[in-house]
Amino acid sequence: MPIDMAVVPVAGRGTRLLPLTKSQPKEMLPVGRKPVVQYVVEELARCGLGRLLFVTGPGKTAIENHFDIDAELITNLRETGREELLQELAFEREDLEYFYTRQRRQLGLGHAVLCAKPVVGRDPFVVALGDSIIGLHAQSNVVRLMVEQFESNGADVVIAFENVPREEVVQYGIAKPRKQGEVFELDDLVEKPDVAEAPSTLAVAARYVFSPVVFDYLQRTPPGKGGEIQLTDAIRMMIRDGRKALGVRLPEGEQRFDIGNFESYFQAFVEFALADPDYGPALRTCLVDWLSSHEPKQAEKTRWS
Ligand code: G1P
Repeated sequence: MPIDMAVVPVAGRGTRLLPLTKSQPKEMLPVGRKPVVQYVVEELARCGLGRLLFVTGPGKTAIENHFDIDAELITNLRETGREELLQELAFEREDLEYFYTRQRRQLGLGHAVLCAKPVVGRDPFVVALGDSIIGLHAQSNVVRLMVEQFESNGADVVIAFENVPREEVVQYGIAKPRKQGEVFELDDLVEKPDVAEAPSTLAVAARYVFSPVVFDYLQRTPPGKGGEIQLTDAIRMMIRDGRKALGVRLPEGEQRFDIGNFESYFQAFVEFALADPDYGPALRTCLVDWLSSHEPKQAEKTRWS
């Protein structure tokens, strides 16, 4: 049976984005015209995934509302002669099934994935982190490529990787590949290593394909980095048990937009806005003018404290 289920963990509190995320989920932050998680769903749908299970937490109901059909809004747009706006809601009618479960304690990404077990059962599945967009406007096929590798190699886990600057390895799961290449076997995986100890600069890029055996490992994974049950540590145990773990590099021209911190969130927003077919060209002109008339200077601190 083809892989049909994607688990989308969205339970994290987004503390690196405070105060923005105090009362709204980071997955609902706008990047250009859409909230982050809509790009994630569109990417998964393009890659053939039909059933999406969100692992949610406190303060995340806006995500459920976003993917619901809003009959009142549709009627209102029709009655007020604004039919042209209905196409902005076309994503509501995608042929997808949504499921929601809740991570009731904040015990880490590994634990969030384990919360999916009763719904996923014994079938292979995809994990797509809800705070990361892959490819400009989510036009990425990497999950499809990963599923193909998973199936043709009899793997137990396939992970997407992106090369990052060495100083950024501290933010990600980092691969120790067995060989170089677009697709490679993993010798090890280390969660957020120090720069000096990183086995490479290949960082986990928020997409995974798993055999359900991962649940057995997650159940036995003790708290790791930050006291959390780390998905990376469960994968590490799988590798040490001789299970087949593959890495797939993001294809040329594709990158991960990480919406988990301000630096990459700001960059993502600007890049998506510049690529907007209607508003991008004017924004570009405006930015170029602004940049040429403003000397770079130390950003002023305008905080309340
Ligand atoms: C998680 C994973 C990490 C991965 C990252 C981005 O970290 O634990 O291995 O590289 O997502 O895909 P987080 O950003 O939740 O701290």
